[in-house]
Amino acid sequence: MNNFIDYKNAVADYINQINFNKNPKELYEPIGYIANLGGKRLRPLLTLFAAEVFGAAPNEAIHAAVAIELFHNFSLIHDDIMDDAPLRRGEKTVHEKWNLNTGILSGDAMLILAYQYFENYEPAIFKDLAKLFSKTALEVCEGQQLDINFETRNNVSIPEYIKMIDYKTAVLVGAALEMGAIVAKTTPSNKEAIYNFGRHLGIAFQLQDDYLDAFGETATFGKQIGGDILENKKTYLYLKTLENASEEDKKELVKWYATKENSQEKIDSVKQLFIKTNATGDMQLLIEEYTQKALQQLETLEIAYHFKEELKEFAVSLMSRTV
Ligand code: IPE
Ligand code: IPE
Ligand code: MG
Ligand code: MG
Ligand code: MG
Repeated sequence: MNNFIDYKNAVADYINQINFNKNPKELYEPIGYIANLGGKRLRPLLTLFAAEVFGAAPNEAIHAAVAIELFHNFSLIHDDIMDDAPLRRGEKTVHEKWNLNTGILSGDAMLILAYQYFENYEPAIFKDLAKLFSKTALEVCEGQQLDINFETRNNVSIPEYIKMIDYKTAVLVGAALEMGAIVAKTTPSNKEAIYNFGRHLGIAFQLQDDYLDAFGETATFGKQIGGDILENKKTYLYLKTLENASEEDKKELVKWYATKENSQEKIDSVKQLFIKTNATGDMQLLIEEYTQKALQQLETLEIAYHFKEELKEFAVSLMSRTV
């Protein structure tokens, strides 16, 4: 696990020295703001780790890692606009601290900045990275659109929800790992297995995010608690509650989700239903299931045993996160 702290520090050191102090400052300042608020930096550390696992020096993957993290940060700026979120990483979201237009344009610029980091690679590697990046970024947009569509749809199924979180979140975790594998020039089968590991892990990660959105604490999670409920997000907690609930409870849940009411009462009442129907327990089981699916992917990887153990430890540790 020590390695992961080293990787996180390497990413932090790199991002700290990027000069965001450029003109027009209205464009660059918000980019520096969100980048330096930090966060867990999970995706870039996975890029560095994957590079090492497949035999490269982790530092060879630093530019790909930074590209992934800047892309992730861009997606958060726009996601917070779309979700009407006030808090990010314990601080004001970009569109709250500045305004909507700033969030849109600084986000756009950040996406392009991310892409530029691939220019540090030789043509063959550049091509593979750029191809994976473009495919992934489009899928993230598709997932984000589904997420928004689902807010006002009343017949979302659990498989549709899983597809949505796979696209908005998991493909990027898969891509983060595969980029390390690309830089290390490993075999196609290794690339595929590490990508699939990331994808299953990413689904477990988003399920946990949805759980913490309702049952976490702002002090550690850094976001508004209950935001998904206020936005009528059709998360697994909601869909499973509908499935498990009595007719009466179902009616109550549907009634709450038909409003756009911004009240603590709505959050508390809906959370009670999530607990009462044991949707929370079912969700924990599903998180374990996807983590297990991720671990199965490790079996086909041709890498040193201790690396598999470290990837496993990392995957399992995510299940108990509160941040
Ligand atoms: C938040 O990602 C967005 C999701 C896909 C759930 P993280 O939970 O990795 O956020 P940071 O980067 O650590 O703040
Ligand atoms: C975010 O999902 C996925 C992307 C940013 C692409 P969420 O909307 O659940 O992420 P948070 O909870 O705001 O971090
Ligand atoms: Mg959000
Ligand atoms: Mg969102
Ligand atoms: Mg969330």
